[in-house]
Amino acid sequence: MTEQSLKNLAIIMDGNGRWAAQRGLSRTKGHEQGAEVIRDITEYCAKHPTIETITFYAFSTENWKRPKLEVEFLMKLLEKYLKNELETYQKNNVKFMAIGNTEAFSKKLQERIQLTEEATRENDALTHILALNYGGRAEITHAVNTLIAEGKRELTEADISSALQTPYSDVDLLIRTSGEERVSNYLLWQISYAEFYFTQTLWPDFTADELDDIIQHFQQRNRRFGGIL
Ligand code: IPE
Ligand code: IPE
Ligand code: MG
Repeated sequence: MTEQSLKNLAIIMDGNGRWAAQRGLSRTKGHEQGAEVIRDITEYCAKHPTIETITFYAFSTENWKRPKLEVEFLMKLLEKYLKNELETYQKNNVKFMAIGNTEAFSKKLQERIQLTEEATRENDALTHILALNYGGRAEITHAVNTLIAEGKRELTEADISSALQTPYSDVDLLIRTSGEERVSNYLLWQISYAEFYFTQTLWPDFTADELDDIIQHFQQRNRRFGGIL
């Protein structure tokens, strides 16, 4: 059997709060540690021969339900992260992109997102996407409304795929950390035929070595897409 080729990888980074609680730390410490892991994984993906995109779930449309202080901390962390990471993106030839409704964020954060996207636009070793204020249902609804506004009356799957925010329409492999086995409104259209991998590891403990093992496991899977291989 030939090895599966991995182009579009998506990760639900979960378990920051539990990682912190296990150490008697505040949840914010878990988020800080989690942000460090994103850098390692991005560097791994940029060097990987077949990965074209990595899409990290960083803040869902449902995460506004969290305490105000935690939400504020996450927004600040994101701003700090993007400022610090510009160097990593440039060094590794990584293009940064945000998906989700970022208009809900502060002007300053929106400007930082835009600046990072513009500064890395020409990089082509990897597209690193952060899903921010992202929900799969919101994305599909927005895509459909955009197409209606353009005057389309009957939509094809290809129309919807091309109106989504992601530069791809199919995720090959979706990984979720922390032992939870659910999708939490992530990339609903794009995971139609994705392979799933759930690991018990909490996100702040996740490493490029574990990702490498998961990818090797993925490469041996038999993807049938409804056929009979
Ligand atoms: C994931 O970790 C990070 C975000 C959703 C921002 P959590 O904060 O959900 O961690 P747990 O699930 O409470 O452990
Ligand atoms: C999913 O994690 C969202 C992100 C990782 C950003 P959550 O921790 O918010 O998901 P649920 O609430 O456990 O489903
Ligand atoms: Mg969680």
